[in-house]
Amino acid sequence: MKKSYLQVARAAYQPKLPKALLGSVKVKECGATHSVGDQAEIKEMFPKTYGLPVIEFEGGENKAHEVKNVGVILSGGQAPGGHNVISGIFDGIKSLNPNSRLYGFILGPGGLVDHKYMELTADIIDEYRNTGGFDIIGSGRTKLETVEQFESGIEILRELNIGALVIIGGDDSNTNACVLAEYYAQKGYGVQVIGCPKTIDGDLKNAQIETSFGFDTACKTYSELIGNIQRDCNSARKYWHFIKLMGRSASHIALECALQCQPNICLVSEEVEAKGMSLDEVVEYIATAVAKRAEDGNNFGTVLIPEGLIEFIPAIKALIAELNDVLAQPEAKDYSRSKLLDYVKSHISKRSLGIFNSLPTEVARQLALDRDPHGNVQVSLIETEVLLAQMVADKLQDWKREGKYVGKFATQHHFFGYEGRCAAPSNYDADYCYALGFNASRLIDAGVTGYMSIVKNTTAPAAEWIAGGVPITMMMNMEKRNGKMKPVIRKALVELDGAPFKYFAAHRAEWARQTSYVYPGPIQYFGPTEVCDQPTMTLKLEQGGSID
Ligand code: FBP
Repeated sequence: MKKSYLQVARAAYQPKLPKALLGSVKVKECGATHSVGDQAEIKEMFPKTYGLPVIEFEGGENKAHEVKNVGVILSGGQAPGGHNVISGIFDGIKSLNPNSRLYGFILGPGGLVDHKYMELTADIIDEYRNTGGFDIIGSGRTKLETVEQFESGIEILRELNIGALVIIGGDDSNTNACVLAEYYAQKGYGVQVIGCPKTIDGDLKNAQIETSFGFDTACKTYSELIGNIQRDCNSARKYWHFIKLMGRSASHIALECALQCQPNICLVSEEVEAKGMSLDEVVEYIATAVAKRAEDGNNFGTVLIPEGLIEFIPAIKALIAELNDVLAQPEAKDYSRSKLLDYVKSHISKRSLGIFNSLPTEVARQLALDRDPHGNVQVSLIETEVLLAQMVADKLQDWKREGKYVGKFATQHHFFGYEGRCAAPSNYDADYCYALGFNASRLIDAGVTGYMSIVKNTTAPAAEWIAGGVPITMMMNMEKRNGKMKPVIRKALVELDGAPFKYFAAHRAEWARQTSYVYPGPIQYFGPTEVCDQPTMTLKLEQGGSID
């Protein structure tokens, strides 16, 4: 593999670890837990893994450790730092017993089911330390949910003498990890299952998990690009840039980029829903800001749009819920793709049909037909940035005719998502991910199953980070998926009474009218700590810090 100069220099970087993980550890139990919702149902479904205590690691006595082979799976969308989680697991298990082996299952959970794997040796691991991407073993979105899949998995785990499996994934993948942990525990198969919180979306967080890995690097990468666009925009002064940002349902990425770049407008889906805004009201909000800037002679600007926006407009949300129910009916499977559209149209309410017919054909088609294996609408395929720019242009035309707007409105469109998912991890993600992986090896050694690896207090220096584990059932509640109520990890959406949104809300009027752009520049790996080691502004504000 030919390496860039940065890769070569970066390979030598030794990620930091919390002090508690530097030597032998002992477990401190922090009291029994219960799920965040629907406790009776979750308890009944997870008798072996429900109610277990949160644990933290403290310095302990040296002891001998038996050989324990471990399997690892990368699940779902790529997120910067995945390779460091794997190198952390590798170093962790080898530090306990050098004869333990690490196996990677190829292309996600499907690799476990189809028995596709490779041994990850020191030579291979060294090639990937501190690099972005998931290409060491690849990732996939196969949903682990059937007994056949679990049984197929145990065959290969036994063949390779694997005693623990680490699943690195988002909320859906960690839900699956917990279901698998429970199944293997009930069957007495003696295989532990541990999760690690991954996703650029930033929506796998709660009282126990400060942030999901990859969010930091992805947001910094997008913020660099947005900053560059803002500088271009402020130089040419002739375009409004409509920039859609990945993040699935939650608006954490858009909000973090807004805090970093101070754009003219940033939509926050959770607010749009809370205010019950219609698509037309969203358009009017943007058009008003455009018209006001035009009054000052500023016919340029930037608009950040969270990828999931369309799902949060209440009327469209209700439409999607109806479409999900209709698509979950067994008879829906009998229809070909071309006939399915007519089938769904004839099975939704009159109100939803009206909304459906008012949408541009391509958007309607994507809402009705495209789902990922977990039943999520594939929002990254919907061109909201183009849709909104077009609708704002139409509204401004109307206002021009009515004499309410004088200005020029030319647009550019961007969608940032894939540009950041495999970026080389920032120092924060490099350290955080390595610590999560190393910590997973200690959870395995502690003999627990159905736990997620957690590292907390990450706005403090790494030595002060707190490492441990949280039972995955603690984060669960019941939600409707593919037409059925299922136990799932509760997704963290942007909280409108949280410090990051409040900061944004207090400044957005000024950012909309003025040109207050900030240009964050590229991620720096070497240099002064205030340039290289800043956590996200979201995390700083959530932890009670200041960003001014
Ligand atoms: P995960 O939830 O699996 O981490 O996915 C992150 C993400 O990048 C979302 O932001 C985006 O909507 C989705 O993946 C796109 O996935 P794909 O490339 O598989 O269509």
